[in-house]
This record gives sequence, C-alpha cells and structure tokens, in this order.
Amino acid sequence: MSKIIISPSILSADFTNLERDIKRAEDSGADWLHIDVMDGHFVPNITIGVPVTASIKKITKLPLDVHLMIENPQKYIEPFAKAGADILTFHYEAMKNDDEIFEIISLIKSFGIKAGMSIKPKTPAEKCFKFSEQLDMILVMTVEPGFGGQKFMEDCAEKIKSVREQNSNIIIQVDGGINAETGQICKNYGANSLVAGNYIYKSDNIRQAILSLK
Ligand code: DX5
Ligand code: ZN
Repeated sequence: MSKIIISPSILSADFTNLERDIKRAEDSGADWLHIDVMDGHFVPNITIGVPVTASIKKITKLPLDVHLMIENPQKYIEPFAKAGADILTFHYEAMKNDDEIFEIISLIKSFGIKAGMSIKPKTPAEKCFKFSEQLDMILVMTVEPGFGGQKFMEDCAEKIKSVREQNSNIIIQVDGGINAETGQICKNYGANSLVAGNYIYKSDNIRQAILSLK
C-alpha cells in the first residue's frame, strides 16, 4: 500500500488561533489540511465557507482537502476551486441522480484539481462503484457528518474493504473518530488517507499524534 495521507481537520483547531494551529499541523508532518464545510441544511451544523478557505490558502503550503457537507454542491465548486481547494469532495447523498454526479466530477476536474465523493454511514459502498474510475478519492464516513469528536463506527469502516476490492488505485479516505487504533483498523481494510480532528488537535503532542497515524 502506498503512503498514508494524513489530513488534520481544522474543525477541532482553536479558531482564535487558526493560523498558529495550521502551521502546527504543517510543521508536524501533515500531508493535507482538511476543511469541513457545513451549510446547516445537509448537516445540522454551520462551519467554514469560501472566504475563510481563501484566507487559509494564503498562509499554508499544504494542499487544501475541502469536504463539502452541503446541499447543491455543484453551485459552489467554482468558488471553492478559485479559493484554492486542491481536493474537492462532495456527498453522494446530496446529488439527485447519476448524471449529476458525472457532471460534478467533470466540473471539479475542469479546474485541474482532485475530485472526491463521500458516503455517509448508511450509504452502501456499492453506490460508489460506477463512479470510481472518474473519481480521485472516495471518502468513507465513520460517523454521521456534522460534528467533530464523535465515536468511530467500525461497521462503516468495513465498507473500505469493498471499495478497495473494486478499485486498487483510488485514494480511500476515512473521516470520523480516527485515532491511532481506529486508523490502523481502516488502514487494514485498505484506506490510505486518514482525517483526524480531535485526536490531532486535542493531543499534547501534534507531531506524535500525526506520526502515530502514519
Ligand atoms: C465530521 C467531519 C470531520 C470531523 C472529524 O462531520 O467531517 O472531518 O472534523 O473530527 P474527529 O476526528 O474529531 O472525529
Ligand atoms: Zn470531514
């Protein structure tokens, strides 16, 4: 298995010290920076949008891994791409039909960036299969999206195995309740990118936390 991509979720950072916390991740071996965008409709929470993403782009060299937990994501691909997203991940459940999914993937790729699609806990892995050739990444959620600090659901992580069996090259990212132990379970199933919020940002030693995930 290729290198493991660690993407710290800034949802668990100190927003009054966001630049400091981003630099800490950057200096501690992070590969990407995970930005959780929530709209209060697709999920019950509201978080970060386009202007904050554009500001973050100015202060870090880390690729911006933007997780769109929003309705009508196709409306926001261009603004987020122009704000500096390097990976844009939309939710399968936010899309109306297969055609819309193929269109949004092409739209994301037209900006020269990576396209990801995420599935919520109750969505079967098989729903991704017909899109996996076009996608760069599939994000398997191991908590219900909306909040950091929730408990990892192992039955969701089992879906990683079927996604990996169907596509050996794609990046499989996992998000929700990841720590050294649950991250290892996901890597065993075939994941090669781990998102972690609380485990990294609530630890006393960010470098050690990132190292333990690798
Ligand atoms: C949840 C978000 C996650 C969240 C993960 O809806 O998509 O990225 O920040 O936080 P932890 O790692 O604390 O579960
Ligand atoms: Zn996320």
